[in-house]
Amino acid sequence: GWTMASFVESTVADLREKIGDARVICGLSGGIDSTVVALLLHKAIGKQLTCIFVDNGLLRMNEREEVIGYLERHFDLNLVTVDAAERFLSLLAGVEDPEKKRKTIGYTFIEVFDEEAAKITDVKYLAQGTLYPDVIESVSFKGGPSAVIKSHHNVGGLPEKMNLSLVEPLRELFKDEVRKVAMELGLPDYIIWRHPFPGPGLAIRVIGEITTERLEILRQADRIVQQELLATDWYRKVWQGFAVLLPLKTVGVMGDDRTYEHVIALRIVDSIDAMTADWTRLPTEILARISNRIINEVKGVNRVVLDISSKPPSTIEWE
Ligand code: XMP
Repeated sequence: GWTMASFVESTVADLREKIGDARVICGLSGGIDSTVVALLLHKAIGKQLTCIFVDNGLLRMNEREEVIGYLERHFDLNLVTVDAAERFLSLLAGVEDPEKKRKTIGYTFIEVFDEEAAKITDVKYLAQGTLYPDVIESVSFKGGPSAVIKSHHNVGGLPEKMNLSLVEPLRELFKDEVRKVAMELGLPDYIIWRHPFPGPGLAIRVIGEITTERLEILRQADRIVQQELLATDWYRKVWQGFAVLLPLKTVGVMGDDRTYEHVIALRIVDSIDAMTADWTRLPTEILARISNRIINEVKGVNRVVLDISSKPPSTIEWE
C-alpha cells in the first residue's frame, strides 16, 4: 500500500535523480505547502537548495519567527530572508481597491523575489508547492493577476525569464495528504495544522486603506483569535479562523465616557477545499472569550461582530 513514508522516500529519490548536482530555489511563505516542499528538497539535495522568504510586512504576529525561526533552528538550510515591509507598505499607501492591492502585492513580490533569485548563480530549477487542486484549477481566486500569482511561492513569469524548470513535488496531493507528509517529516503540530493564509496576507483583511496603525490593530485582534482557537481542538476543526478590520467606527461606552472606535469582524469557517464554506458553529463561550479579550486588550476596538455567511454567495475573505 501507499504510505506517507514511501511517498517521502520515493519523492526524495526522484528529486535527487532529476536534479542531479543542479541548484534549486524555492519561495518559502510560512505555510505548510512551501515548508514541506523545502524540506523534501533539503532531504534530497541539501545545500544545493536556496530558500527565499520575503517579509512583506503583511504577516500575522510572530509568523516569521514561528515558521522561519523553526526551520532555522532545526535544519541547515540555505535561507535568504528579505525584509521588504517598507517597500510593500509604501506601494500600498492609499490603495483601497482589493484587486489593486492584490496586483501591487503580486508584482512587488515578483520583483523582490526576482532580485534575490538573480543573486544566486547557476540556478536550474524553481520549486513550488503546487497541490492537486491547483493543478486541476478547482481553486479559484478573485481574478486579476493574482489568479496566476496564487501565493507567495507561486512566482509567475520568473521560470521563463530565468530559464528555470519547475519542480512541484506535491502536485498529486491534496491538503490533508500534505499534512500527513508533514507529520512524516516530523514537523510540529503548529506548522502542520496552520490555517491557509492568503498570499496578500493581512492586506486583504484590513478592509480599505492599509496603514501601519490599522495593521497593528488587526494583528493584535487576530492573535487573540488564533490563541483562543489553539487553546481548544477547534483550531484543527475549522478550515480558517481570523479577524477582519472594518473601515468604520462605531460608538461605545467606557465608564462615563463615550468611545468612537474600530470594529473587528470574526470570520471562522468550515470547509474541505475552500470552494464552498460554512460559518463554524463555534461554542458561544469561545466566541464570548474572543470578543471580551479583543475589546479589553486591543486598544482602539470597541465592537466585535461575527460573520454568519456561507460561501457561496459570500467568500471566505472579505476582499
Ligand atoms: P475566498 O475568499 O475566495 O478564498 O473564498 C478561498 C481561499 O483562498 C484564499 N485566498 C487567497 N489565497 N491569494 C492567495 O494565495 C489570494 O489572493 C487569495 N484570496 C483568497 C482564502 O484565504 C481562502 O483560503
